[in-house]
Amino acid sequence: MIASHRVLVARDANGGPLGFIAVRQCDIAGFYVAEGHRGQGIGRALLERCAHAARAIGADLIILVGDEPYYGRHGYKRVPPGRIRLPGPVDPMRLLGLELKPGALSAISGDVRGG
Ligand SMILES: CC(C)(COP(=O)(O)OP(=O)(O)OC[C@H]1O[C@@H](n2cnc3c(N)ncnc32)[C@H](O)[C@@H]1OP(=O)(O)O)[C@@H](O)C(=O)NCCC(=O)NCCS
Repeated sequence: MIASHRVLVARDANGGPLGFIAVRQCDIAGFYVAEGHRGQGIGRALLERCAHAARAIGADLIILVGDEPYYGRHGYKRVPPGRIRLPGPVDPMRLLGLELKPGALSAISGDVRGG
């Protein structure tokens, strides 16, 4: 647990950590799979578990800053420019969202607070 973040950890059969995804409110704030274990779908599984958990608490949308070629494969789309403001500067091409409810991405607006 990082203060105010929820962290999902992927583990091997012996409980050893393989990767994690850290979620803060509605945004993914950290995502990592150990080098020797990449390309086996662990990242996909973490993203799917994360979306499942977000749906379960009634979230409309998940946002993150990341590579569109990767996240696009998992349903993430660019957030329409100028709609939300993050605590620091962000390349708008990398600001992505996954709609958990239809239309959530086009309806989004406001500030994302840090912490
Ligand atoms: C991104 C990351 C978490 C994916 O984990 P993973 O377990 O390898 O993911 P999956 O097995 O579900 O998917 C692997 C596929 O994604 C592709 N991929 C990984 N990173 C990519 C990227 N930045 N852009 C495009 N494709 C990417 C791989 O080439 C692989 O493609 P293939 O299935 O055609 O072979 C992992 O590569 C990682 O920890 N990278 C370093 C940290 C990082 O970049 N985190 C994301 C910050 S935004």
